[in-house]
Amino acid sequence: MNSWIPSMGVAALLAVGLAAGALAQDVVEARQDSMSAIGDAMKPLRPMFSGEATYDPATVRASADIVAEHAGAPLIALFPEGSRNPDSAALPAIWENWAEFEALANKLGVVAKGLALAADNTEAAAPSGGASMGALMGAAPAPAPDAALTAEALGEKPAAEVFKMVGDTCGSCHSQFREKRS
Ligand code: HEC
Repeated sequence: MNSWIPSMGVAALLAVGLAAGALAQDVVEARQDSMSAIGDAMKPLRPMFSGEATYDPATVRASADIVAEHAGAPLIALFPEGSRNPDSAALPAIWENWAEFEALANKLGVVAKGLALAADNTEAAAPSGGASMGALMGAAPAPAPDAALTAEALGEKPAAEVFKMVGDTCGSCHSQFREKRS
């Protein structure tokens, strides 16, 4: 009664399987390309913020814009459920902690946009350590950092501080969701 399966069903299933495999391959390549673009954009900024290269706000803005373009929804869309293959360093934890993964992908967009807005803020380059002005003046306690995280608010901060937040966001996603390969 299932004699149709060997005749055409297997071929059809094979075709579907191959298509799914090809799709996974495409999406893995697409997100690795996207991550490489993010990495390439970040590369010139490190020496600028460490003082080894001349600081150029226009480059910071351009790089931050590239990172922001690849973050958030476009990044999330490149991680359909279970899209892994031997070339992929994506960990299954992504789909087990999807909300956290999405939050980090979105956070990358916010901090990168913030960096673009903060690019000219080089005066008070040292991150402020002590109590904030608001706290000193007896204002309401600051909300949890992530609740207050908007690109506009970050745009008021020193560029170096926002750059560090961008790097920390890369790191916290990679440490949870990307396989370490040597
Ligand atoms: C929301 C999570 C997340 C964030 C945020 C994130 N990454 Fe990634 N990144 C990944 C994952 C997952 C992979 C592995 C993708 C794969 O191999 O399928 C990856 C891979 C990479 C790669 C290797 C690409 C390749 O060709 O294999 C580079 C480079 C990279 N990320 C740079 C960055 C930089 C720089 C930042 C911050 C500016 C960043 N990433 C932020 C999740 C993230």
